[in-house]
Amino acid sequence: MSTGKKLFVEDLKTAGKRVIVRVDFNVPLKDGKVESDKRIKESLPTINYLREQGAKVILMSHLGRPDGKRVPEMSLRPVADALAALLGAPVAFAEDCVGPAAEAAVAALAPGGVLLLENLRFHAEEEENDPAFAKQLAALCDLYVNDAFGSAHRAHASTEGITRFVAQAASGFLMKKELDYLGEALTNPKRPFVAVIGGSKVSSKIDVIKSLLPRVDKLLIGGGMTYTFLKAQGLEVGKSIVENDKLDLARSLLAEAGGKLVLGTDFVVTDKLDFKARTVGALKTVAKDAIPADWEAVDAGPATVAAFTQILLAAKTIVWNGPVGVFEIDATAKGTIAIAEALAKATAGGAITIVGGGDSASAVKKAGVASKVSHVSTGGGASLEFLEGKVLPGVAALTDK
Ligand code: 3PG
Repeated sequence: MSTGKKLFVEDLKTAGKRVIVRVDFNVPLKDGKVESDKRIKESLPTINYLREQGAKVILMSHLGRPDGKRVPEMSLRPVADALAALLGAPVAFAEDCVGPAAEAAVAALAPGGVLLLENLRFHAEEEENDPAFAKQLAALCDLYVNDAFGSAHRAHASTEGITRFVAQAASGFLMKKELDYLGEALTNPKRPFVAVIGGSKVSSKIDVIKSLLPRVDKLLIGGGMTYTFLKAQGLEVGKSIVENDKLDLARSLLAEAGGKLVLGTDFVVTDKLDFKARTVGALKTVAKDAIPADWEAVDAGPATVAAFTQILLAAKTIVWNGPVGVFEIDATAKGTIAIAEALAKATAGGAITIVGGGDSASAVKKAGVASKVSHVSTGGGASLEFLEGKVLPGVAALTDK
């Protein structure tokens, strides 16, 4: 799926028009302030372009999961302040995303002006994709732009329903950039094409593994799901995380993949993991066939890291989704950080490197290499569903060229 056949914001005549832009400003807040402004910064190209065109820019987003109720801690007001600081221009704020408050704020907008509407999910109708609510949003604008890649896997009123009630629905710059990077990797990768898929459960990564296997040259498996694969191969994995109901599935994936699927050969294990308290007990490195009965694997070992790094440095395209250890705890983040560093090195050597959002995006940030990879996606669930080969409703609903 790409935006190639869909209208792009540059295809629209936006001067003097009310353009509503679905952005993904679902950002972490701490003490009433924006903690990470990556998603806001990534929306600036579309906002600035529309301002330069003399459009009246109306931004709408969700924040958190308030379940259709007004939750003051999930107000987008702090985001309006953060955006104003980044733009160096005022950003008006409407206390509601539909109704008189929104209508009055839109009416007061001058060409080039920017308005942010209050959290869409304060209305249950947003997630219900309610047509009447979508129509109310559409009534605020002349044209619609979707730049919320992070929410493109949701068929909600602001991402899907609204497109039925507007004259034209186009993608924004961020949406295009995300789909170009991910789409090019899936359909036209420079080879060798290597994917690193980590995370704790085979069940949540099964679709992405199945979708990527026929496309990649190698698929490196890391993180908690490794131990389901090892157990499927008949190894003892101690207290490591295992999905016993996925052993047959793991076996059939291994058979189907042939030599493409690469598992670790050594692991860092601990006698005590308290994830809540972010602490681990004693740590040691063991080979894959020597995980002690009372111990739990929590990170990739040095031999695994070296083997993965060698494969990554020979790759021309890399897609990474999911950590290879418990990276939230510093002592067991080494494997994941080493993968992040390998991606940065591969990028310097000319490879295209794409990091799926969510945990892997946090990991490259923690490793200090976020600016040294080709692309860090702003979408966690959305990038995963894209790599699974699923149609993203927010993209499918845009107007064909
Ligand atoms: C995200 O952060 O992945 C998106 O903003 C979507 O949020 P959601 O999972 O609450 O729909």
